[in-house]
Amino acid sequence: MDDGGAFDALRERLAGAPRVLAITGAGISAESGISTFRGAGGWWKNHDPARLASPQGFAADPALVWEWYIHRIRTVLAAEPNAGHRALAELERRASSGFCLLTQNVDGLHQRAGSRRVHEIHGTILQARGTRSDRRVPVADLDIDAPPPLRAADGELLRPDVVWFGETIRTDAYRAVETFLDQAPPDVCLVVGTSGMFPYIQAWAIRARMAGALLAEINPEPGDLASSCDIVIARPAGEALPKLLEPASTS
Ligand code: OAD
Repeated sequence: MDDGGAFDALRERLAGAPRVLAITGAGISAESGISTFRGAGGWWKNHDPARLASPQGFAADPALVWEWYIHRIRTVLAAEPNAGHRALAELERRASSGFCLLTQNVDGLHQRAGSRRVHEIHGTILQARGTRSDRRVPVADLDIDAPPPLRAADGELLRPDVVWFGETIRTDAYRAVETFLDQAPPDVCLVVGTSGMFPYIQAWAIRARMAGALLAEINPEPGDLASSCDIVIARPAGEALPKLLEPASTS
């Protein structure tokens, strides 16, 4: 199917009162200037995830880990949502039979673009949590200019409130997606800007398709899920997603 046919097929399914599951990854924030992990120029090309994004790495060198996270927090705070984020927020407003946005991103840009039903399966970079207690501290309440690692006022060592390699994904987000899929089958499942390599991401996309959803991937370099998709649009999210909001072609 060429791009024109792909957009038309998707717009047709999105017309009326659609129910939509959207799954996003780092690629949707690339056009906001936030680096991906595995794509060209991605973090994991030159940095070791075991040192920067694992409990063992943090135990070995919390200052190094916080230095990297503070750099990323600064980038996120300076970034703005792009046309792709905004288009998903608009799709949510139109999806009168239900919408669920499952993101692997920790940057909060979906929420800033106006998305409401966002489930952050890997947590959020905009919050820290205690290493001994369950306390959660918004990054806005912390002095990120202080020498790392960041600590609470009483001295407790904090850690980023994100999911690291070897840790369990967020239960609340997991349950929200499961409940959404249990309630009724989606008409469309959009997989945007992810290499789609985690089994739970693949499983949700395939489950949506098996339940009758049109499964579409938007990614300039389609990932592991492409071969299971009905539609693959090999374009940047900021260009492709707004096109889904246009009226279906009448030709
Ligand atoms: P990846 O870095 O693995 O993949 C990003 C994807 O975005 C690639 O497939 C790119 O081709 C695509 N991409 C790049 N620019 C794009 C654009 N403008 N529009 C659309 N797509 C674009 O990121 P994720 O799949 O999100 O987890 O990675 C999943 C998880 O692995 C992350 O949450 C993170 C990482 O390690 C943890 O840190 C636990």
